[in-house]
Amino acid sequence: MGARAISEQGLLAVLLFVLGLCSMPVCLDAAGDSTSFSVLDYGAAGDGQTDDSKAFLEAWNAMCSSRSTDIPIMVVPEGKTFLVKPVNFYGPCLAKNVNVQIMGSIIAPNTIKEWEGVDARWMAFNNVSGLSVSGSGTIDGRGSDWWNNSCRDHPGKGCTTLAPTSMEFQNCNECHLSNLRFVNSPQVHILVYQCNGIYIDGIVIRSPENSPNTDGIHIQAVDNMFIQRADIGAGDDCISIGDFTSNINVKDIICGPGHGISIGSLGMGGTSSKVENINVNNVTLTNTMNGVRIKTWEEGQGYCRGITFEHIRLTNVQNPIIIDQHYFCWVAGCKDLPTGTHISNVTFSDVMGTSSTPVAINMNCSSAVPCSEISLDSVQLVSATSGQKLLGLGLGKLLRESESLREQLLQFLGYIPSLIEIQFFGVLLHIGALGDVDGADFVSLTIITITGNPKRSLLIQNSKHE
Ligand SMILES: *[C@@H]1O[C@H](CO)[C@@H](O)[C@H](O)[C@H]1NC(C)=O
Ligand SMILES: *[C@@H]1O[C@H](CO)[C@@H](O)[C@H](O)[C@H]1NC(C)=O
Ligand SMILES: *[C@@H]1O[C@H](CO)[C@@H](O)[C@H](O)[C@H]1NC(C)=O
Ligand SMILES: *[C@@H]1O[C@H](CO)[C@@H](O)[C@H](O)[C@H]1NC(C)=O
Ligand SMILES: *[C@@H]1O[C@H](CO)[C@@H](O)[C@H](O)[C@H]1NC(C)=O
Repeated sequence: MGARAISEQGLLAVLLFVLGLCSMPVCLDAAGDSTSFSVLDYGAAGDGQTDDSKAFLEAWNAMCSSRSTDIPIMVVPEGKTFLVKPVNFYGPCLAKNVNVQIMGSIIAPNTIKEWEGVDARWMAFNNVSGLSVSGSGTIDGRGSDWWNNSCRDHPGKGCTTLAPTSMEFQNCNECHLSNLRFVNSPQVHILVYQCNGIYIDGIVIRSPENSPNTDGIHIQAVDNMFIQRADIGAGDDCISIGDFTSNINVKDIICGPGHGISIGSLGMGGTSSKVENINVNNVTLTNTMNGVRIKTWEEGQGYCRGITFEHIRLTNVQNPIIIDQHYFCWVAGCKDLPTGTHISNVTFSDVMGTSSTPVAINMNCSSAVPCSEISLDSVQLVSATSGQKLLGLGLGKLLRESESLREQLLQFLGYIPSLIEIQFFGVLLHIGALGDVDGADFVSLTIITITGNPKRSLLIQNSKHE
């Protein structure tokens, strides 16, 4: 009976809150603790001019130290614009779950000068469990001054390579981020770092195509994560999955403009990467630089394995499928280093659409640590320019150099299919099927497995000859 009374009272508080009838300190739970913490009650002006950072921090601290049996909620109300400078929201919080509900707009300082120094992050949640950040509000990083001074686009004295990330989750477990709109971040929009169990759902990200390094979502050192129903247009990768990531599901994503969906870059500074079990499913990419990509530094080590890209739709994409094990290296002219991140067990399945460049598939693998077990299953790409042929390029120990590819194909298939061309150590070879269907040139690869095993380096299965 007692428990029921408490929960009914809690429900009433939530109801009052939902109806907007409740402002602190009216909302109390059964234990007498507040459940709703509006930034307005902590002195925020919400006029877009006044620095509301302190009010945000105080509302957070009050919420975070609430012992409420109902979920304490920090509220950023609708219809107002809050100017917030760099602020760290620290946990752990006393309640098992805490919510941040953002209904209004949050804006960053407009110029670098107003930021009062370069900071790596704008709003960061640290060391929190059971946090849910949600709402219909907008997070505007007002990044244009940072872009105008980026070393990429404006090299020279005073340029900056480091610009703030709009929202960061570090050391967070079982946290949700949903439905917010992020625009014009100085750099990465959302960074998830050293976390376990993160769910991102229904967010929208918008930054101009030419804004430097404004990745949509970047994750690093994360286990167990879902990103779904995101609509991302940005100046860099829509989603990038970095070192030490595992069990990551990316699903139902719209991407463009931007650099596509990337795993990497991995292995920078010789890092021994551990990237495993990544599933990217149902992504629509339009006018992007890349479709689905894995990029690793030559100096890297470790592995990247168990990767699936499936149901990928592309329109006018420069590099629809790309694995690049020569992404970058510091050492001058460091060609063919003996190191590399081992990329294995990667499947590209049901990838369809148009390529804006002639190279639709690029497997730029390392000869020292070659890619292995790469499968292309139902890949159908046509050129965005009618009449243009597409190529697949492969570098590395994908194939036996000495063996005639035609002989291999004959051996496996019993016939020579129409071919796509593969550039291998500068020599043009042909694999797979380049079909002319109704006069259209397209690359149709039906389960081609390229393995690192030099004895059986090329395997073609299930290829239909029609
Ligand atoms: C994170 O929270 C734990 C308790 O859950 C605490 O012991 C630790 O000091 C906190 N770390 C930081 C960096 O705040
Ligand atoms: C950055 O440069 C653009 C183009 O010159 C300009 O429109 C914009 O106002 C600049 N941003 C800031 C904050 O000065
Ligand atoms: C694929 O993702 C899009 C965009 O989120 C969504 O509208 C569509 O329903 C998804 N398709 C399937 C088959 O789930
Ligand atoms: C390959 O990766 C998939 C996940 O994409 C995994 O289910 C499968 O077990 C892996 N296969 C091998 C041989 O490791
Ligand atoms: C492979 O990467 C190397 C190093 O970045 C580059 O020089 C070469 O052009 C690339 N090859 C292809 C086919 O993209």
